[in-house]
Amino acid sequence: MTPTTSSVLPALRIGPLTVQTPVVLAPMAGVTNRAFRRLCREHGAGLYVAEMVTSRALVERTPESMRIIRHDEDERPRSVQVYGVDPATVGAAVRVLAEEDRADHVDLNFGCPVPKVTRKGGGAVLPWKRDLFAAIVGAAVDAAAPHGVPVTVKMRKGIDEDHLTYLEAGLRAQDAGVAAVALHARTAADYYSGTADWEAIARLKETVTDIPVLGNGDIWSAEDALAMVEQTGCDGVVVGRGCQGRPWLFADLAAAFHGSDVRVRPGMREVASAVRRHAELMVEEFDDESKALRELRKHMAWYFKGYVVGGELRARFGLVESLGHLDDLLAELDLDQPYPGAGAEGQRGRAGSPKRPSLPEGWLDSRELSEAFERKLREAELSVSGG
Ligand SMILES: Cc1cc2nc3c(=O)[nH]c(=O)nc-3n(C[C@H](O)[C@H](O)[C@H](O)COP(=O)(O)O)c2cc1C
Repeated sequence: MTPTTSSVLPALRIGPLTVQTPVVLAPMAGVTNRAFRRLCREHGAGLYVAEMVTSRALVERTPESMRIIRHDEDERPRSVQVYGVDPATVGAAVRVLAEEDRADHVDLNFGCPVPKVTRKGGGAVLPWKRDLFAAIVGAAVDAAAPHGVPVTVKMRKGIDEDHLTYLEAGLRAQDAGVAAVALHARTAADYYSGTADWEAIARLKETVTDIPVLGNGDIWSAEDALAMVEQTGCDGVVVGRGCQGRPWLFADLAAAFHGSDVRVRPGMREVASAVRRHAELMVEEFDDESKALRELRKHMAWYFKGYVVGGELRARFGLVESLGHLDDLLAELDLDQPYPGAGAEGQRGRAGSPKRPSLPEGWLDSRELSEAFERKLREAELSVSGG
């Protein structure tokens, strides 16, 4: 699709980058690899963020981190998300990306709610330590700016409703020279439960006035994206789970932002062909057919959500082992089955119930970082898999 300027919102400007359709594929570990980004790009227009890479792994140039930051020749802008807890390491990781011309955009992850990360003070609970947050963001901007690479911040609302950090963090990020901020409008305690609090996106937009504010959370359709823009005034949308098993959502989003009500409504034949294409791209990505197909298994339930497949065949898709095996399974589908409507729409992917975030003991007592916590934090990065 040739991007033209959106008729709903102006083009999204992230530092020197212009994203004509203000839509961002949310970074998702284990999902938004080069293969999946390519599928999404083939359908739509926007900015497609890679799976997060941890700063330490990138500095050490582990094979997995080098895989994560790889882009297709024609993929522009090349967007990478970095997770880190130590300003010096994050700075060094961003230097690898910017100095060596490996990325055109760097996003920083302050949204992870996983207990093994928050227990040590990382992820979504890190902005509570405001000096540390500002130091990490500052180190990333200092490393990227000389190379003209914009840095953005992706965060949650805070630890829980009594310990919100997003407005202050948004302002600090803006002061540090960040090019845009994105808010997943949930707290760490919310995890993936309930509905995202779009009102918070509106508050952030009112507060952070010099750089674009991107809204994230619970966009399952193009209509949801338009509604978020209207309700919050955000400058662009970030879409995660809604496109799992539905890369064509990016076509709907592009259409909606350009004033068209044409929507992709794939029958089973189109879904089967997307699954096959995804599998081929995954084999290219991992250069290992067996690993690629194992990685693809989780996508199967997403692709077939709402379609009649049958429990037994569904289960066999969940154990797919090779391209040949996949072809045998695809041949068993009723390819003439039309788009099932509502069953294929709405919420998909991770959900769950609220969890009281595990925090380091005494974490909430002060907004500044003590030395004991600094040590814990370094462990926090070692316990995250992202390269
Ligand atoms: C499987 C999965 C992996 C994720 N990995 C990351 C990640 O690496 N970095 C990040 O900032 N957020 C990550 N997220 C959060 C998403 O980027 C996004 O903020 C969240 O899913 C809310 O958006 P949605 O309602 O559109 O899904 C992940 C979410 C899911 C479901």
